[in-house]
Amino acid sequence: GEVGIQNVDAKLEYMNPTGSFKDRGTAVMMSVAKELGVTEVVEDSSGNAGASVSAYAGRAGIIAHVFAPANAPEAKLQQIKVYGAQTHSIEGPREATTQAAIDYYQQRGLVYASHNLSPYFLEGTKTFAYELAASPAGVPDHVIIPVGNGALFIGAWKGFQELLAAGRIDKTPKMHAIQADGVMPVAAAFAGKRWTLEDSRPTIAGGISVATPPRKQQVLDILSASRGQSIAVDDTSIVWWQKAMASKEGIYCEPTSAAAFAGLQILAEHGHISREDRALVAVTGFGLKDAPPA
Ligand SMILES: Cc1ncc(COP(=O)(O)O)c(C=O)c1O
Repeated sequence: GEVGIQNVDAKLEYMNPTGSFKDRGTAVMMSVAKELGVTEVVEDSSGNAGASVSAYAGRAGIIAHVFAPANAPEAKLQQIKVYGAQTHSIEGPREATTQAAIDYYQQRGLVYASHNLSPYFLEGTKTFAYELAASPAGVPDHVIIPVGNGALFIGAWKGFQELLAAGRIDKTPKMHAIQADGVMPVAAAFAGKRWTLEDSRPTIAGGISVATPPRKQQVLDILSASRGQSIAVDDTSIVWWQKAMASKEGIYCEPTSAAAFAGLQILAEHGHISREDRALVAVTGFGLKDAPPA
């Protein structure tokens, strides 16, 4: 109703065990680590991937060192601790957390189980596409995903490609990547604009606050191959959608996830999604993981 499209579905990725889509990737990444005999890993995260690695490491009997920004939401930091990881909280921007994790694993000769770099993580996130293909409604015309480094975005596309090659689906959806306008390397590059780390501004969408995503080119290639769009949204619209989805649909997602709905609105307004199309939004993380909307 709000966006003038008849068929919008929300895929509740927050129903995964630790409350975000990250479990798809972590389940595979940590299973491989265990199979290879790894006993100790290092990870850095805005919170959700860290909580997920902590949980799956605990289950696998692997020691995890999770690096997270000191200003990450308290609920996420607590969640990382509860599953048993050794937490390292790092002051400064998100990039400082990554650097601290890299220094730590290099000095100690540990395995860097980075969800932003591990190919196994994408082997897990591709199950997002498998589930859609197996669902009664099938694959939608449009998939809208909040993108930081693009692990769900790239994994989902990989899944759709495999399904297509296997003859299980006959078309792939347009993949749309939504970012916050404070940290928009992908959306800017898509629009042909210059954007650098110095252009970063704080955003409440912490999960997609990734200024220098190592997989940026892959995301851009998928946008072009799937004929999707990349849109940057502001914090005001993110909060509006977070509240609207909770109060009107009973879907309480974190701000990072609400950004995708704000993006859907712009996609519809700009005519990239037409009234009869079927659009699907990935609701990537649960609302209780972050501070409540003001
Ligand atoms: C809730 C939520 N949504 C989306 C993302 C973006 O995932 P990616 O960086 O893999 O694009 C994150 C990453 O932290 C997240 O926590």
